[in-house]
Amino acid sequence: MSESKIVKLVDESSNRSSELPLISGTLGPACIDIGTLYKDTGHFTYDPGYGSTASTKSAITYIDGDEGVLLYRGYPIEQLAQQSSFLEVSYLLLNGELPNKAQFEGFEHDITHHTMMHEAQKNFFHGFHHDAHPMAMLAAAVASLSAFYHDDLNVDDPADRKLAAIRLIAKMPTIAAACYRYSIGWPMRYPRNNLEYVDRFLHMMFEVPSEPLQMNPVAAKALDLLFILHADHEQNASTSTVRLVGSTGANPYASIAAGITALWGPAHGGANEAVLKQLKEIGTPDKVETAVKRAKDKNDSFRLMGFGHRVYKNFDPRAKIIREMCHKVLAELGVNDPLLDVAMKLEEAALKDDYFVERKLYPNVDFYSGIIYKALGIPTEMFTVMFAIARTSGWIAHWIEQHETPGSRIGRPRQIYTGADVRDYVPTAKR
Ligand code: CMC
Repeated sequence: MSESKIVKLVDESSNRSSELPLISGTLGPACIDIGTLYKDTGHFTYDPGYGSTASTKSAITYIDGDEGVLLYRGYPIEQLAQQSSFLEVSYLLLNGELPNKAQFEGFEHDITHHTMMHEAQKNFFHGFHHDAHPMAMLAAAVASLSAFYHDDLNVDDPADRKLAAIRLIAKMPTIAAACYRYSIGWPMRYPRNNLEYVDRFLHMMFEVPSEPLQMNPVAAKALDLLFILHADHEQNASTSTVRLVGSTGANPYASIAAGITALWGPAHGGANEAVLKQLKEIGTPDKVETAVKRAKDKNDSFRLMGFGHRVYKNFDPRAKIIREMCHKVLAELGVNDPLLDVAMKLEEAALKDDYFVERKLYPNVDFYSGIIYKALGIPTEMFTVMFAIARTSGWIAHWIEQHETPGSRIGRPRQIYTGADVRDYVPTAKR
């Protein structure tokens, strides 16, 4: 990281000025450090949606949105998708380096031995109506972890932070599967230590007490790959939420629960559920043209879900990988899903339409993931929960990085006030 050049900003009306250093990271555009701007000039900056704002320095993930590049700790996502596993990627995100054999075995052992929920935690589920959305249950259940592990947790102690990370990555699939099983009235399953991370999750989801579960290994492989692709994505809305909550010194479980609620929105992780619902609504390839027309109509709030991205102005590299996998998984599982035909037609129509071309709106990671989840037998309401399981490793890596960074401050943006000018209180009788 370097701080070489200076950008000078002059307010001609007051003749006050500020000399702002230009900070460069390892990759990506240089940033103007505006930390002293208010002190020097009396002005704030205004950037709703943070389109031009770097909120932090981070060494975890790099995105080049114009070129369609995504790196975790420097490793291209394509290489990790092909050669790594979700648990190894989680280790990488948390620790900065790929593990050697002994380090990985130790990590896997720790994760495996923290997968159980506290028995008392199961009681929380019984407070929900059976048709509660699994994301609502997940957020509440993860927040409730802070009630189980609060008093003895010191966020300034690296060992405690590491333990919180292990617990979260380990327990997330157990809690997620419990949300699903509660919603369909099935008994919750205990995690099986003899299975690997993704297999263990699939067993907790689908195993019934009366017979052993026969899972196609293709399903576990596909889910592991989806988890790798979703594990982290720089300062997205949910990660920024985790950091903002974390900046107050809040408990890590409460911080991650906040991230889960941010992820749920359809503009973010909730898009995978919304994509599938939209494909079902469109129904058949011949209705695609009408959907594209509606998406372009400025008087219609309808948007093509699974298209567009704040950072990628090129193909989302994760979508490229998922697209290929989607065809493979469906073929290997022998699933013939007519929704895939609708998705293909939609992609084709949007990619050659001027509206989408001019705005650089490409299919994003959520466009195909739902079709794969559906092929694996995962219900639509659980799609964003899948995303949350994977993103937990990224969220907690960012939370740890934030706590390891010297001089971290509470996140506290300012505003442009547009309300009433100062005025005197009027007693009720005189209003
Ligand atoms: N369908 C139709 N028009 C769109 C779409 C879309 N999906 N996305 C953006 N646009 C238009 C938008 O109307 C605007 O047009 P104009 O310049 O004429 O006003 C232009 O493209 C720029 O859009 P924006 O809303 O300013 O872009 P943004 O960076 O604020 O929003 C986004 C990014 C992902 C929220 C948005 O593209 C969107 O709503 N997409 C659909 C939801 C979705 O798939 N979300 C998943 C994102 S990837 C995974 C994740 O983050 O979790």
